[in-house]
Formats: sequence, structure tokens, C-alpha cells
Amino acid sequence: MLRVEGLRAYFSLRQGMLRAVEDVSFEVPVGRIVGLVGESGSGKTVTAYSTAGLEIGRPGIIGGHVFLGDRDLFSGLEQSCRIDAAAGSGKTRVRKNSGKWSRQLAANYRGVRGSRISMIFQEPQSSLDPLFSIERQITEPLLRHGQCRSRREARGEALEWLRTVAIHAPERVLSSYPHELSGGMCQRVMLAIAMASRPQLLIADEPTTALDATIQVQILSLLRQLNRQRSVSVLLITHDIQIVYHYTDLVVVMYAGYVMERNSTAWLLDPRLEDKHPYTRALLASVPYEQGAIKVRRLTAVQGESPNPFDVPQGCPFHPRCQMVVGEQCRRELPPLLEIAPGHHVRCWRWSE
Ligand SMILES: Nc1ncnc2c1ncn2[C@@H]1O[C@H](COP(=O)(O)OP(=O)(O)OP(=O)(O)O)[C@@H](O)[C@H]1O
Ligand SMILES: [Mg+2]
Repeated sequence: MLRVEGLRAYFSLRQGMLRAVEDVSFEVPVGRIVGLVGESGSGKTVTAYSTAGLEIGRPGIIGGHVFLGDRDLFSGLEQSCRIDAAAGSGKTRVRKNSGKWSRQLAANYRGVRGSRISMIFQEPQSSLDPLFSIERQITEPLLRHGQCRSRREARGEALEWLRTVAIHAPERVLSSYPHELSGGMCQRVMLAIAMASRPQLLIADEPTTALDATIQVQILSLLRQLNRQRSVSVLLITHDIQIVYHYTDLVVVMYAGYVMERNSTAWLLDPRLEDKHPYTRALLASVPYEQGAIKVRRLTAVQGESPNPFDVPQGCPFHPRCQMVVGEQCRRELPPLLEIAPGHHVRCWRWSE
């Protein structure tokens, strides 16, 4: 369904080059929910925005490939944005023609974003337009994309979607404005808007972080139900590994802008730690873990500090915090993301041990 290959996203800022995302590769198979997990600042949102073809920050620089089916949504972008390693200095040099780049991006994503790919965000209230009624916000894209021919038809469709996302009194909600609804209701409305265009892929960036625990469960269950019933593929971004346990089929673990490991969620649930990346282990050890007979074990915080995005450590980005680091290789050379078993990819020099 979706294949991201070698995605990179940099910001050229006054303080220097911020490498938010580097060499990120993963897949979202048809009808699956893939969890993208990592600490704050690891590059999850930038990955989501870049994948959806949204321009990130003004001087955003993106490279790599994003395949939707067999179509590369990044094709031609490299002609207006080149990232080269400047010889000798270890610095990067960027040449970008912003106007050309934006036009190419818009052309590539025309008929894709908002129709084949939809997105929902962390703050539902701020993603809805405060000036327009819910009816207008759901029906407008349906009319614009030609999915409905009349306002009446679009209104019928909107009501149907509000029922699907379990909104009580949908007629009343249709004539409401965002400030008249609770956060949970706004997120249901966002989900209705996102789903109404019948996307093949839904990107959900921390869709429940701003909501309380019971509403969180309801929204995530709804998301899974829509995924199963309507076979929409989902990229679910979260910093909460427990959400990954309960709601995803596959997991991608990010650290300092890199994918460190990816595999099935069933593997993540397996309490054995020896076949997991040291960072994945550290993440698992930092949350209560309930699996079969094993209840909460002793919790430990991930040791050390998050990396400075302007100065990601040389070598393995996790090496300053890693308990398994040995020798110069971990400190000097970036390990490749290797497939060590079918579907299991790891970025670690010591995986074989
Ligand atoms: N528009 C922007 N301009 C400059 N830097 C940015 C911009 N957006 C993100 N960044 C930087 O890119 C890095 C990755 O940020 P990102 O928002 O993707 O992290 P995240 O994993 O989503 O974190 P969180 O869990 O807190 O949402 C961070 O260092 C962040 O400061
Ligand atoms: Mg984020």
C-alpha cells in the first residue's frame, strides 16, 4: 500500500542543519495498522507530514521515495532539491528551488492527499476550522472532490459518517461549530472527515494524546473497527508503546530521526528481550508490561539524554545511551537497517550477539 524508502527531512535553520529524519524506510501493507513509536523529537510527526506531502516548516528539505502502490509521490522532487555531503567537512550542502519544489510536490499529491491519503492530528479542536459548521467541514471536500453532486446528497453522507463514528444526535452536531463540541467529539468528527473521502491510507498523528483515557480507548477502538471493516490501512503515530501493543499489527521504532527496528507487533509482545534492539528494550522497560502471566515488572527510565537534533551522534545514534555499546564501530559507523529475519529489520552492530 505505502512504501517509504530512504526518507530524509532536514530544516536549514540559523543555528545549522537540523536533521529531523534520516534514511527512514518502512511499509504499511494493505489493511494493516502500523505503529510508529519513539520518544518526543524522534521525527514521527515530520515523517507523517512528509509522507502526506505536507510542507513542513518553511525551509523544509525532503528527499527519498514515498510509493503509494507503484506510484512514487516524490518523483521529480530531487531536481529542485539536492542534498550533498560537502567534501571533507562532514557538513551537508543543500540546493533547493523552493517554488519549483512546492509546485512539483503539489502536482504529485493532487488527487492523493485528502482523498487516497487522509490525516488526523493530535489536537482535534485546532485542526477543525472554528469559523465553519461541522456540516460545512464534512460536506465541502465531498463536493469539491466530486464524490457528491448536491448539498443534499453530501449532507446525507455526512450524517451517515457521523453515525459511523458513533456520534449521538448527528443532526445537532452537523449544525454545531467546533467550540460547541468536546475534544472527543471533535476527534470523531475529524475521523468522519478523514474517512468520508474513502482513503486507502489514514495517517493518524497521536490522535488521542490530548484526550482522557476512556475517550482514548473509544477512539482507538473505532479506528481499528474502521480499519477492519473498511480495510483502510493506518499509520498510527504514538509515543505510547502500550497503544502499539493493543492497536497495531506492525511496529516501527524510531530514534533520533532513524528507524532502529521494525517487526510485527506480536514479536514486540513476546516478553523475551534478547531478540530486541537495545533501544526497543529500553522503551519496553519504561512502561508497565502485561503479557500472560507476566505483570508489571520493575520500570526503568531510558538512561541518558535525548540527542541534540543539531548534532546527532556519529556512528549509531543510540550509542551514548546504549548499554551494549562496544568498540569503535558503534561510535564511528552508522549501522545499516538489516533484515535479520523475515520482516524483522534492525539497525545495530551487535544484533548477532
Ligand atoms: N517546522 C520545523 N522547523 C524546525 N524544526 C522542526 C520543525 N518541525 C519539527 N522540527 C524538529 O524536528 C525534530 C523532529 O520533530 P517531530 O515533531 O517529528 O518529533 P516527534 O517524534 O513527532 O515528537 P513528539 O512525540 O514530541 O510529537 C525535532 O527536533 C523538532 O524540533
Ligand atoms: Mg509529534
